[in-house]
Amino acid sequence: MKIVSIIGARPQFVKAGPVSAALRQRHAEVLVHTGQHYDDNMSAVFFDELGIPAPDHYLGIGGGHHGAMTGRMLGAIEQVLLAEQPGRVLVYGDTNSTLAGALAASKLHIPVAHVEAGLRSFNRAMPEEINRVVADHLSDLLLVPSETAVRNLAAEGITRGVHVVGDVMSDSLLAADVRARARSTVLDRLGLAERGFLLVTVHRAENTDDPLRLGAILAALGDAGTTVVFPVHPRTRGVMAKLGLAFAPNVMPIDPVGYLDMVRLEGAARMILTDSGGVQKEAYWLGVPCVTMRDETEWVETVEAGWNLLVGANRERIAHASRHFAPPAARPFLYGDGQVAGRIVTTIEG
Ligand code: UD1
Ligand code: UDP
Repeated sequence: MKIVSIIGARPQFVKAGPVSAALRQRHAEVLVHTGQHYDDNMSAVFFDELGIPAPDHYLGIGGGHHGAMTGRMLGAIEQVLLAEQPGRVLVYGDTNSTLAGALAASKLHIPVAHVEAGLRSFNRAMPEEINRVVADHLSDLLLVPSETAVRNLAAEGITRGVHVVGDVMSDSLLAADVRARARSTVLDRLGLAERGFLLVTVHRAENTDDPLRLGAILAALGDAGTTVVFPVHPRTRGVMAKLGLAFAPNVMPIDPVGYLDMVRLEGAARMILTDSGGVQKEAYWLGVPCVTMRDETEWVETVEAGWNLLVGANRERIAHASRHFAPPAARPFLYGDGQVAGRIVTTIEG
């Protein structure tokens, strides 16, 4: 079968790596990169490190307001689909690239498979929540990571085409962990010792685009009492420059890092503080305590297991958690066994 896969943002490169490799064993994959993320350290490095083939179509659509971005993607993806005439379109996650891909395909009556379907924060102020709800309703194959996702879909009337395959980020992570330990020099380069630092990522619009929330998070990192390594997302870098916000002296801001360096940093951190979706799961799989600086999470099982603490953007709660949060000894199996890409491909074939 000819399958068009549509990706464009950092977490989608991580998800597409193993799926693309598994798909190409038996099918013709045409890879479309929308260009939503375009800096080398947000895009090219992931293609290199995850062995993702060069995109067949690079649309070059990044930046600007989200409506305009999504609209331009919609038109450009439609042109690609008209030219390629695939039997199916594959989309990942919850970005504008996901929404545009699913919408373009469904308008041409091409069936859509959604990887990481069924996740919900129940917060419609998040752009990602709108993107994933719409993408799910446009898809005929919903490839979900958990029973919670099955229930979320059922609550919206979606019961056909739902398959629990697990979370494909586990495939990428488990493979990268071994390679990162062997190859990454990031700890030496930054002068870090194992468990001697906290790792932080912040990019969620609800945090960066609200000066009170961003200010509280930055202040809390200053209260952490230890070295805080912070690969700064371009959205966050941009807002901080505009508002004239600075990092506290114990915070080590660095440019976004490649996947292997990131996995090494995650694995060596004493704790991870984040508002990322992917990073919450990676922390869990690596057995590193995670403090999530959001008011809710889609990955509720990690919270129920006691390994992920939701603290919002509250300065005191973040600072307290950064010093004292300690998960229980037990860490039950969640989401992924590292064999998810193969199940995605056989489900698509079935
Ligand atoms: C997007 C996704 C979000 C995902 C995140 C992963 C949407 C609505 N949001 O958010 O779900 O968690 O990616 O990181 O799709 N920029 C650069 N260089 C780049 C990429 C972006 O400078 O390589 C700048 C853009 O020009 C823009 C800002 O960063 O000004 C935000 O980028 P955008 O793609 O709009 O959203 P993200 O915050 O990255
Ligand atoms: N990541 C990375 N380098 C960084 C920050 C994140 O490689 O500097 C990886 C991270 O390990 C995970 C993915 O990017 O695999 C998550 O992407 P992000 O946090 O941007 O998006 P989200 O998961 O929140 O949609």
